[in-house]
Amino acid sequence: MKIPFDFNDKTVFIMGGTSGINLGIAKGFAENGASVAVASRSQEKVDAAITELSKSGAEIIGFASDVRDVETLQAGLEMIAEKFGHIDILIAGQAGNFPAKALDMSSNAFKSVMDIDLQGTFNVLRHSYQYLTKPGASIINISAPQAFVPMELQVHVCAAKAGVDMITRVLALEWGGEGIRVNSIIPGPIEGTVGMERLAPTPELESACTDSIPLGRWGTTEDIANCAMFLSSPYADYINGAVIPVDGGWSLGGATIMSKHLIKAISKS
Ligand code: COA
Ligand code: NAP
Repeated sequence: MKIPFDFNDKTVFIMGGTSGINLGIAKGFAENGASVAVASRSQEKVDAAITELSKSGAEIIGFASDVRDVETLQAGLEMIAEKFGHIDILIAGQAGNFPAKALDMSSNAFKSVMDIDLQGTFNVLRHSYQYLTKPGASIINISAPQAFVPMELQVHVCAAKAGVDMITRVLALEWGGEGIRVNSIIPGPIEGTVGMERLAPTPELESACTDSIPLGRWGTTEDIANCAMFLSSPYADYINGAVIPVDGGWSLGGATIMSKHLIKAISKS
């Protein structure tokens, strides 16, 4: 279903916007008139995303940056400001994940996900602040059901994404007075993504996952893009500090069932 959004004259920056869900969000905004900037670690992925997104006819730019490296992030943000002047819509979607028991993780394994997901989200919001449209900016952090559903093999992601949603709430308070809205989207299992390749790597796990979703289907990147565009549209002008699951009801119970299947599968291998 195509919802008529109008983002002409709006600018969007998506950290981690070069693949999966975040590329789907970038596509949604580009196809509805926005100028879009994307960034991630791999220059190759940035170039491919620019080529793909440019098919919409929108102005697309990008740069390579590891969200843990504030210097390249700041340089990229300056480049966006030079080209676009300001950022109307900011999305922090970068993340890292692998399923592992706490005792099979080194301190550095835990830290790498905390640094990418949690510290990285702080870095993106903190350093983009000066370029945000005030009043009027919409910030969206891409969280996960692990933020409030404890899942085995996911201690790093659970801790990091819970923190991401607290960044959402605290900055909704701190920046709301300036007309900046900050919200989180919690995607459920989204088809064709690296995230789900890692959490449901076999046909058996895929089907267990489908069974655990109340709506009986995996989500699409369009489902998440639609929510991101709604949250950044005038229809959502009074939504601030919200954490919104777009997951077919999965986080109501299915995520826990799924983690039981995953732990069994990993123990066998
Ligand atoms: N089990 C246990 N530890 C693991 C692991 C696994 N499956 N995969 C990586 N690690 C550990 C590494 O051994 C390393 O720890 P060490 O230094 O003590 O050996 C630590 O995690 C960091 O790994 P490294 O590969 O150096 O980090 P990176 O910064 O290059 O990559 C990751 C970050 C590990 C999160 C990587 O999976 C990644 O780049 N992910 C991005 C894509 C993704 O996850 N998409 C899904 C989003 S939901
Ligand atoms: P993905 O395709 O792997 O997307 C992750 C993006 O982040 C990529 O563009 C990646 O590009 C970038 N990235 C990773 N580490 C980075 C770093 N250190 N610095 C900068 N960029 C980095 O994964 P996805 O599955 O679509 O997930 C996207 C988001 O949705 C994540 O926040 C994830 O937690 C969330 N989510 C996903 C699902 C799902 O079903 N897939 C469910 C719930 C939540 P590079 O490799 O080039 O850096």
